[in-house]
Amino acid sequence: MERERFLPLLLLLLPLAVAGPGPGPAAAATAMTADVAVILELAKSLTNPPPSWTGKDVCGGAYFNGITCNGAGRVTGINLANKQLSGTLPSSISNLTALQSLQLQGNALKGDVPSLAQMASLDTLALDGNAFTTLPPDFLEGLPLLRKLSMADLPLKPWSIPDAIAGCAALQDFSAFNASISGHLPAVLANLTSLQMLRLSYNYLTGGLPMELEGLAELQTLELNNQKSDAKMSGPIDVVAKLQSLQTLWLQSNSFTGPIPEFGSNSQLVDFNVRDNQLTGVVPASLIGITSLQDVKLSNNYFQGPKPSFTAKTVDIDSGNGFCLNDPGPCDPLVTTLLEVASGFGYPLDLAKWAGNNPCGSTRWPDLLCNKMDVTQIRLSGKNLSGMISPAFANLTRLQYLDLSNNQLTGVIPDSLTTLANLNHLDVSNNHLTGRVPEFKQPDIKLITAGNWFGESGGDNGGGGGSSPSNPTGSRNSKSNAVTIVGIVLAVILLVVCVGLFLHHRRRKNVDKFSPVSTKSPFGESETEMMKIQVVGTNGHSNRSGSAAPAELFSHVSADSTNIADLFDSHGMQLPMSVLLKATNNFDEGYILGRGGFGVVFKGTLNGKLVAVKRCDSGTMGTKGLQEFMAEIDVLRKVRHRHLVALLGYCTHGNERLLVYEYMSGGTLREHLCDLQQSGYTPLTWTQRMTIALDVARGIEYLHGLAQETFIHRDLKPSNILLDQDLRAKVSDFGLVKLAKDTDKSMMTRVAGTFGYLAPEYATTGKVTTKVDVYAYGVILMEMITGRKVLDDSLPEDEAHLVTIFKRNMIDKQKFRKFVDPTLELSAESWNSLLEVADLAHHCTAREPNPRPDMCHCVNRLSSLVDQWKPTNIVEDDEEGGTSEMGLHEQLARWRRNDFTISDSDSFSTYTSRKYC
Ligand SMILES: *[C@@H]1O[C@H](CO)[C@@H](O)[C@H](O)[C@H]1NC(C)=O
Ligand SMILES: *[C@@H]1O[C@H](CO)[C@@H](O)[C@H](O)[C@H]1NC(C)=O
Repeated sequence: MERERFLPLLLLLLPLAVAGPGPGPAAAATAMTADVAVILELAKSLTNPPPSWTGKDVCGGAYFNGITCNGAGRVTGINLANKQLSGTLPSSISNLTALQSLQLQGNALKGDVPSLAQMASLDTLALDGNAFTTLPPDFLEGLPLLRKLSMADLPLKPWSIPDAIAGCAALQDFSAFNASISGHLPAVLANLTSLQMLRLSYNYLTGGLPMELEGLAELQTLELNNQKSDAKMSGPIDVVAKLQSLQTLWLQSNSFTGPIPEFGSNSQLVDFNVRDNQLTGVVPASLIGITSLQDVKLSNNYFQGPKPSFTAKTVDIDSGNGFCLNDPGPCDPLVTTLLEVASGFGYPLDLAKWAGNNPCGSTRWPDLLCNKMDVTQIRLSGKNLSGMISPAFANLTRLQYLDLSNNQLTGVIPDSLTTLANLNHLDVSNNHLTGRVPEFKQPDIKLITAGNWFGESGGDNGGGGGSSPSNPTGSRNSKSNAVTIVGIVLAVILLVVCVGLFLHHRRRKNVDKFSPVSTKSPFGESETEMMKIQVVGTNGHSNRSGSAAPAELFSHVSADSTNIADLFDSHGMQLPMSVLLKATNNFDEGYILGRGGFGVVFKGTLNGKLVAVKRCDSGTMGTKGLQEFMAEIDVLRKVRHRHLVALLGYCTHGNERLLVYEYMSGGTLREHLCDLQQSGYTPLTWTQRMTIALDVARGIEYLHGLAQETFIHRDLKPSNILLDQDLRAKVSDFGLVKLAKDTDKSMMTRVAGTFGYLAPEYATTGKVTTKVDVYAYGVILMEMITGRKVLDDSLPEDEAHLVTIFKRNMIDKQKFRKFVDPTLELSAESWNSLLEVADLAHHCTAREPNPRPDMCHCVNRLSSLVDQWKPTNIVEDDEEGGTSEMGLHEQLARWRRNDFTISDSDSFSTYTSRKYC
């Protein structure tokens, strides 16, 4: 268009130029044109103009090398590349309105770049490698035909790309690396639809890649690497996958975050360099599959998941990433699932620490808690997460606790979360979630959904969750559903049990020639009940309505209702009486290992293997229905953990009830702590005590967090903690699961347990929660620290109760030092660890159940302490994992930050209550 405007002028001048083809008067006429004057001025302002520039015949062709004119005496080209020129450009150069090419690269020109705004015909501008210091304020204005702009390696004062660049609609190549560009990459670059090359490396750019750039369909080369600003370029790089013509992508040495986007199948990428950024996530298969790739550099990011296998010529991916394995190959399924979860959040940098192939291993991933190799808890509150809640959470089948509160999550709560059978706590409060809250059927799940945008139709926009789906404490709905379902299940089970009873009774008649067994109503007499463990709902609370109670009685049965018949056969665990008589030498007194609350324990030999045979007290057991006993056996068989004494078999014979357990050769913890003279054991070292404490905590944690039910031990004490020959501990006597009519009332009235270890609320109200065990555990910790019994009759009355005087002594470190077990030889380190355990014991024995930590907190805390000692002689449980040196500090820090405040006050620490683990 502009060119057309000049056409008449051009025609006007034409006769003039034609008129004077040779030197002489015609030459003089040429010299008189404005353009010629400008070139002559240029010659003057250069300190060393080209030697050929003599005379005034600028357009004559013979003298002014590098100057091109048109027939009208207009200067159309100035090409002075690499002429070692110095000096400046005269401002009059802006009058060369016919100039199409200005190439000055590779000289030493300095000073200001004059305005180019009148050069409407300018096609090529090359200024690279000079010493210019300033650009004109109207830089890039009025250059509609500019195709190539090259201005790299200039010591310019900082400048930012002007919006006027949008007018350079013809621009194909914009190369300005090392040219002091600051500010952001402007979104108006998107107007440059012909752009093929954008090279802006080594500048001071900050900010992100504008999404608008996706319109640059011709862009082949994008070089933004090595920004020199402190902040560098940052943000996600998603847009690069939209650049269909892209061949070279250099983004290295910046601060880009987020994952590599998915590339289209027709991508033409040749050179992909994103080294040295903060990119996260799994390298997409769509990148790996690009056949044109020749050069791939991914090192020093936070890539996760499987290590990619590229066929490109140059591949640099090894250093500084978090791939699950050192070689290409699939990750552990748990890793895959967790990374899918992270993917829902867009692989935030915070979750880049989810690296490697063992989320539950010795360097456990942050934000998780595991039980063995299963993730049981995920805590991602206030992590600034955006994106969505991935349905992949549903693959974490043992997940109990999920906290996603206080983020910016969008989308819906995936329905798949309702399939997590163990989920008992879901907090998604204060996000931007929409849709409806799915119906969770998990019994007593704690659902916290306030502060979201659920149910727009309800008109409740993220207020307090007034609409029924966002009921903050969740959900009458799911509860009543649960009750209905449980009711149906119960009815079915009762029917099956009756049929089973009938069949069993008939079979017994055929088989059993001995004295008949009481076949009284199985759910009759509960008052003489001696059993210690009970099954309660997943939340560990027992204060529920009477109608719900039968459900919990049968929950373990219903979980496995196809095996009702097994309940009476128990998979060959049943042993004949004759075998056990032989094993124990007819219950020889000399074989007695101990006497417990409801039976005598004998040592025995079965098939050459030592076992412990518990002969239940017939006086109390005899009145118990066989079915109940069998049901208990059925549950006990499911309770298997390396820190729980395993049930190997059982025997029923008449009124006899016998249980066969694995034999623990190391005696009881009690014998090792306070009965040393009797037992002849040497005192346990602090390290040994810590290891035992951790073993016990793990056993109890498992009981509390078992798949369908929560088991509460109710009688945790040192004499129920058995040791093996390596002094590793197992909890025993978690006993028999009560199947009697265990309504709230009976639960509240009958207290089993041992004085001294009884939690106050349990002793006074009979209310049983998992915190009852935590209390007892705290008492045991105190006993391990002091070597004293919880109740010592030999001491004056006000010193007899260990818990009381322990807490009293904790106030003064000096006093406390004298109070600890004198047999302990404590280094400074172990003293510190002892103080930590004392602190833990203190909190476990809090008067009120709520402030007491959960067992998994005890495990966490102790495992970090035990880990410090590991080099001495502890073999850590491999599959449960400890914490590495780094993990330890991290974990302690996390503990302190999130849950726990340790102050240096007189009593070592203060404790703020934690409601969960
Ligand atoms: C950047 O340009 C300056 C001249 O302006 C030059 O001296 C320097 O070597 C260049 N740096 C790079 C990294 O090319
Ligand atoms: C999640 O589970 C489903 C069904 O078992 C399976 O198809 C899918 O591959 C799993 N996803 C992950 C990430 O493990």
